[in-house]
Amino acid sequence: MEQEKKQHALAITVWAGNKQHQLNAACGDNLLMVLTRAKLPVEFFCTTGKCRTCILRLQAPVGSASPASATEQYRVGREALAKGFRLACQVFISGPMTVFLDTPGSA
Ligand code: FES
Repeated sequence: MEQEKKQHALAITVWAGNKQHQLNAACGDNLLMVLTRAKLPVEFFCTTGKCRTCILRLQAPVGSASPASATEQYRVGREALAKGFRLACQVFISGPMTVFLDTPGSA
């Protein structure tokens, strides 16, 4: 069972400042929950895609992250989404990705 779980672990690379962290996530995990569980410095408030506090940038191959939700499209905007900005509370993981936490005010 544990081995089966490991086979499905998805590699999440997180850059916080100049420090790199390697996390594992399961398919369907919420990105904000994965980051907070690892005690990484991500701010959040509403967890429903409304406050925009949890914005971060990520690089994910097509299919590795859930598509932007309607609220995310509205709050983040098309241009910032195209640059990789997402709301962590709205992202569900389905593949490996790299997350950049130091993106204050850049979206
Ligand atoms: S925590 Fe409010 S938008 Fe994600």
